Parts: sequence; structure tokens; C-alpha cells
Amino acid sequence: MSVAEIPSHVPVERVVDFDIFNPPGVESDYFAAWKTLLDGPGLVWSTANGGHWIGARGDVVRQLWADADRLSSECLAVTPGLGEVMQFIPLQSDGAAHKAYRNPVMKGFAARFITALEPSVKAATRELIAGLREKGSCEFVSQFAEILPLNIFLSLIDVPLEDRPRLRELGVQLTRPDGSMTVEGLKQAADDYLWPFIEKRMQEPGNDLFSRILAEPVRDRTWTVDEARRMCRNLLFGGLDTVAAMIGMVALHLARNPEDQRLLRENPGIIPAAADELMRRYPTVAVSRNAVVDVEIDGVTIQAGDLIYLPSVLHNLDPTCFDTPDAVRFDRGLTPVRHTTMGVGEHRCVGAGLARMEVIMFLREWLAGMPDIRLDPARPVRMKGGNVGACTAIPLMWEVPA
Ligand code: HEM
Repeated sequence: MSVAEIPSHVPVERVVDFDIFNPPGVESDYFAAWKTLLDGPGLVWSTANGGHWIGARGDVVRQLWADADRLSSECLAVTPGLGEVMQFIPLQSDGAAHKAYRNPVMKGFAARFITALEPSVKAATRELIAGLREKGSCEFVSQFAEILPLNIFLSLIDVPLEDRPRLRELGVQLTRPDGSMTVEGLKQAADDYLWPFIEKRMQEPGNDLFSRILAEPVRDRTWTVDEARRMCRNLLFGGLDTVAAMIGMVALHLARNPEDQRLLRENPGIIPAAADELMRRYPTVAVSRNAVVDVEIDGVTIQAGDLIYLPSVLHNLDPTCFDTPDAVRFDRGLTPVRHTTMGVGEHRCVGAGLARMEVIMFLREWLAGMPDIRLDPARPVRMKGGNVGACTAIPLMWEVPA
């Protein structure tokens, strides 16, 4: 972590010692670690990681996140070098260019395609559950949460099942980088993996996600090879660790709340509402923006060029935005666009419908196929911070059915 000089436009009372990649106590509780910022002003300046603002109150986070006119998405991340290397489409584009790229991607994720995907998501979920059921215990993150979204991604792009181990290895680096690969190396490995599929889909389109998107024009022309690579890279990186993190949080909630396991088993009809509420309660994605003009907010000036970090956790768990936000209430009746787990405004997640379906499917199949789960008291739950926070270890146990 690099500690930066404090710029003269930053009031000293806004300065905090807070490393977004390693908030204090994150290893045991990501949410509690972030919530310490809710006690202070709505916008703070962190001296860590080169120096940047952090939206630290729900209304500020949401307002800045939706302000695509004054805050640019091109930079991507506080992580040095990540944005320059990845060049994601549509994530790292603004204004008219963003719209031109996003439209075809949104068409590829249309609701009817998500519905058509349900049988393969169900099959992938059941297959993993069948492999665990008789074991009596598992480390849920590595044995389930990280594998399911990979298998679903492979179904999305119509990749043969034999190819799974190769992407699995890459997926481990994507979701849980151990430092053995540089950002450049990671990008290259993802590109090498994806390229044969992209090339084939550009020449002979099929019914898969890549084919559908690449068959749609960017404004009135076809995708260039470079754009196609950047878009497919965005889909791969966008849909793996985010979903793995969410499924992990949902499983952790179930393990800590046996009454909710029973409630949902007895009332499967409320599972979609439960999925929405769990997704609100356990948000772990944060995004970065670059101010393109000066922005006055919360009594301070964000100067053009400043970097701003926006964590959804500080919107969804702020009591001034949601009533008793830490409580999980399946009858809250909030629409998914009220919270910021999937973002807000022009860049709101294109995979939101797919992610929601995956969480619903996980809840349905897990509760129908597994006995009651609980945490293994002998092994700790572990979490990590980052642009996508997540559990890194969830030790589960259960009685093996006779
Ligand atoms: C629970 C799982 C997920 C979470 C929490 C999540 C979260 C987010 C968030 C917060 C954004 C907004 C980024 C911003 O404003 O800069 C976003 C955008 C995006 N997500 Fe997701 N996401 C999830 C699943 C997925 C899936 C399954 C895919 C695709 C397979 C996906 C692909 C994308 C893409 C391509 C964007 C960029 C959209 C744009 O810039 O217009 N995400 N996601």
C-alpha cells in the first residue's frame, strides 16, 4: 500500500487511515470492517493506495454512483494498472460509446435467454450438490461457490464439459489471486482461453451468449476483434468472483440461521423474495470513478481528476437508507433496483438477471437436496476485502442422510 500526500483541497477532518483492500478486521467480518466508516462524514479521503475519496454514507454512495455525466468509468480501479491492462467493454467506457457497446450486451442477456438457461444452471447446481451430500462436511468456497459460476459461464458460452478443468485453474486465479500471476499475466491467460471461442463465434455464430452479442451491431457496424476480446473478457471477469462471493454469503447466512433454512424449505414460494433480500444484505462489490469536473457534495469539493471509491455495503447497510439494514427480512418487499448490490445508473450490472436466477436456483436446489447445514465450530470462517470482497473459507457440516 502506498501512502500519499494529502492534496490541499482535502479538509484534514476528512482524512482516514483506511485501506480498502484490507479494512481493519476484514478477515473475520467484511461488513463490520466497512461499517466503521458509517460513523464519520459522508465522504472521506483515504491516504492509502495513492490517495482517493471513499463514499461513506448511503445517499452519497448512491448519488455519486449514478452520476455518469461528471464521474468517468474509464479508469476502472484503485488497483494500480488494472484498468489500463483490462480495458473492459462496456465497463470502462462512458457516454455514447458506452451505450453503443452496452445495447448489444443487454440484448444478449434478455430475460428469455436467462429463462432458457435455467435447466443447465439447475443441472450444474444439482451435480455439485450430489458430489457433496454424502461427505458430511465441506469447505464451501472452494468446493462449491467458486465452481458453480464457472460451470454456468461455460454453459453460457457453450463450452464442452471436458474443458472445465482448464478454466477452473484460471478461475482460481481470477477469484482468489495468490500473487503468482501479474494483472497482465491474468489478462493474457483469460484471452488465450477465450480467443478460440470468440473467433469461432464471430465466423459461425451459434446460440450461445457470445454469438448473440457479437451478432448485434455496435451502432451500425460489426464488432472489431479488439472490441470482441475486451467485451468477452469483461463477461468472464464480471461473472465469476461476484457470483462466487454472493453464493458464499448466502450459504453462510443459511448456516448461521437454521430457522431461515426451515422457513424457506417449508415455503419455497418465498425463495425469490429471499434471494432479493439476501443480495441486498450481503453486498461486496465496490467500484471506482474518476471525476471529470469538480463535484460539490457533502460540504467538500471532489476535484476533476480525483479518484472516488464507492462501496455498495455503505449504501445497503446504512440505517438512513434502509430500516434496520442488518436484519434479514424476507418480507421487506424491496425491488432489486432499490439497493446497489448490482450497481445503479448506466453501468448497472448487465448480468443482474442471470445472477438473481443463479441465487434463486442455488437456494431451491440446496435446500431441497441437502440436510440442515451448520458451521464447523473447529474451523474459522474467513473473509477478504478487495473490489469484490468475499468469504475465503466457510467450513460447513451436516448429518449425512441415512
Ligand atoms: C451477484 C453477482 C454480481 C454482482 C454482485 C455484480 C455486480 C456488478 C456491479 C456493482 C456492476 C456495476 C459496475 C459499475 O457501476 O462500475 C456490475 C456491472 C457489470 N457486470 Fe455484474 N455483478 C454480478 C454478476 C454478473 C454476471 C453473472 C455477469 C456476466 C456474466 C456480470 C457482468 C457485468 C458487466 C459486463 C458489467 C458492466 C456493465 C456496464 O458497464 O454497463 N455481472 N456488476
